[in-house]
Amino acid sequence: MSTHIAAAPGRIAPIVLFPGDPRRAQWIAENFLDDAECYSEVRGMLGFTGTWNGHRVSVQGSGMGQPSMSIYANELFQEYDVQTIVRVGSCGALTEKVGMRDIIIANGACTDSGINRLRFHGMDYAPVADFPLLRAAVEASERIPLSSAVHVGLLFSGDQFYNTRPELTEPLVAHGALAVEMETSALYTLAAFHGRRALSICTVSDHLVTHEETTALEREQTFGDMIRIALEAATAV
Ligand code: HPA
Repeated sequence: MSTHIAAAPGRIAPIVLFPGDPRRAQWIAENFLDDAECYSEVRGMLGFTGTWNGHRVSVQGSGMGQPSMSIYANELFQEYDVQTIVRVGSCGALTEKVGMRDIIIANGACTDSGINRLRFHGMDYAPVADFPLLRAAVEASERIPLSSAVHVGLLFSGDQFYNTRPELTEPLVAHGALAVEMETSALYTLAAFHGRRALSICTVSDHLVTHEETTALEREQTFGDMIRIALEAATAV
């Protein structure tokens, strides 16, 4: 048992899909895994283990933002010996290069968070995806028939959803950032520290330039595409 995940040793698979929303974790377990069982309900942050195509796979809610996500990622790596985490999340598009419901496979993440500054004494660390996992996700996205476009590029992991300084994202967009979410930078940093694999795949759920939003049905459809890419990639490496 660890502090925030109440699973007995061995109940969490070496591969974990990692959505922010615990209800999304349940939806993934019910719709994609066979014989899924809930292993933890502490704070409502649900986790499930089942199988996909014969591979043991878990799905764990991370909560929103780098502090919450970091608690679960640390415990998964440290207490449960998890080898691969694939975040399956949502993001807000920062540029018209990216459309609603497009899927972004993050090769790296920028951040305004103090977390990396604390860890690296003010130096700028570059959190990047695990390359074999990234390559497997890109290959899966080319193989699977998808209903949306796929981009490989940078995410911006912001600490404030209700951003008080939105003008500060402009230079990041000018240097290739495609969309904003709140977890990937710390996830990639923690995976590097623990010597494990991590990848973030995010679906565009809102557009900060055109101000479009997705319907619940559209979100379900494209989230399904993202989950398929994540499962194929995580079980291929
Ligand atoms: N901002 C931050 N995180 C997000 C957003 C957003 O607009 N959309 C989905 N996750």
